[in-house]
Amino acid sequence: MDKFVIRGGNPLHGTVRISGAKNASLALMPATLLASGTFELRNTPILRDVNTMAVLLRSMGIASERKEHTLTLDTSGINNFEAPYEHVKKMRASVYVLGPLIARYGRAKVSLPGGCAWGPRPVNLHIEAMRRLGADIELREGYIFAHAEKLIGARIHFDVSSVGATGNAMMAAVLARGTTLIENAAIEPEITQLAEFLVSMGATIGGIGTNRIEIEGVQELHPTEVDTIPDRIEAGTFLVAAALCGGTATLTHVIPDHLAAVTAKLEDAGAKVTADQTTVTVTAPSTITSVDVTAHIYPGFPTDMQAQWTALMSVAAGTSVVTDSIYFDRFKHIPEMIRLGADIEVKDNAAIIRGVQRLTGAKVMSTDLRASASLILAGLVAEGTTEVLRVYHLDRGYEAIEKKLSLLGADIQRVAGEEF
Ligand code: EPZ
Repeated sequence: MDKFVIRGGNPLHGTVRISGAKNASLALMPATLLASGTFELRNTPILRDVNTMAVLLRSMGIASERKEHTLTLDTSGINNFEAPYEHVKKMRASVYVLGPLIARYGRAKVSLPGGCAWGPRPVNLHIEAMRRLGADIELREGYIFAHAEKLIGARIHFDVSSVGATGNAMMAAVLARGTTLIENAAIEPEITQLAEFLVSMGATIGGIGTNRIEIEGVQELHPTEVDTIPDRIEAGTFLVAAALCGGTATLTHVIPDHLAAVTAKLEDAGAKVTADQTTVTVTAPSTITSVDVTAHIYPGFPTDMQAQWTALMSVAAGTSVVTDSIYFDRFKHIPEMIRLGADIEVKDNAAIIRGVQRLTGAKVMSTDLRASASLILAGLVAEGTTEVLRVYHLDRGYEAIEKKLSLLGADIQRVAGEEF
């Protein structure tokens, strides 16, 4: 398994191009199950999770071909309606095939995702939504068995705002008979893009971008093409890196509006932020001000950015509190941060961070995607050498992160090799 070797202390200067959004691709790819033919998904990031989804879809008979950042999917040969455990255990987003399979084929066998490095992360809201639409769902042997003659439009009210359950409900409802109303729908940009993608396939959807989505089912959908939106979490990670390391960095191919919560907090921390239509530039403050953050649903501060924010606050002047109102135990990175010299205490779903003068390099272990990102950030500013082990976690969601950081002046190398 590869590791990153980082020598801390370099300020970041220059320009970096942000890739397409992982969490958009992971919804757009299974949505192609809803129609037969060839789809073109442009600006698709080169990531392990995208490859995992392509392998899952290939096991269902979908041919895929990648040319650079354009992914072409041919769904005319679908011959299997199962998402087996060996795929789903690698990536929870595999559950996104559930809605499309039931809607188009009236049947699905999808493994329950099981736990992940943090949290149980249930799929009860996905299952309840399918049942509301008339699917017959049975849970046994660790699998979801679903059958439906024809889905019937229904009112679906989510108790909890869920990105995945909203995506699955939309993908099921577009081919249901009649009208579906989804209330308390997630409004993350990736869900908005999924809705627009479905409309471009011939679906009838109202309320796109709001938490009240109305869908008129149609008989059939057709293939289409799409430019995947930029990855707001990759962008946020690089903005925090620049604020942390010192210097000035410009991110291109972004949608600044999607970054509003993060750039607002960076300004509170003393950074200077400017933006135009498709770029954001951040200049680091001479002293980082401690700023409290609570992760909320969009457009609040993203939970996928709370670990990265903790890295910034670990060397801020003063004490700050980072709270996660979505996942109550997404703090697996904290013990590793403490090994780098951070002064952090976790209480319930909050990390209390007392800023220290400096972090000191050490060997640290990645546990999950965004935890790994926060360890990279800490290593970039720690004195001496930091080794971040098991970077396959990072490769799930960051395209060539070490190359992009090196372009900005960071001293970071990928060292391939045996079990570390
Ligand atoms: C999506 O996961 C993202 N993944 C996650 O990003 C992100 O952290 C999360 O949304 C929250 O923004 C993808 O889009 C592929 P949820 P998802 O359903 O859809 C609870 C990353 O780092 N819940 O919005 O699984 C759940 O436990 C990944 O890129 C239920 O209770 O998240 C959580 O507390 C990590 N029952 C809350 O809802 C359900 O059936 C929000 O989860 C589903 C969710």
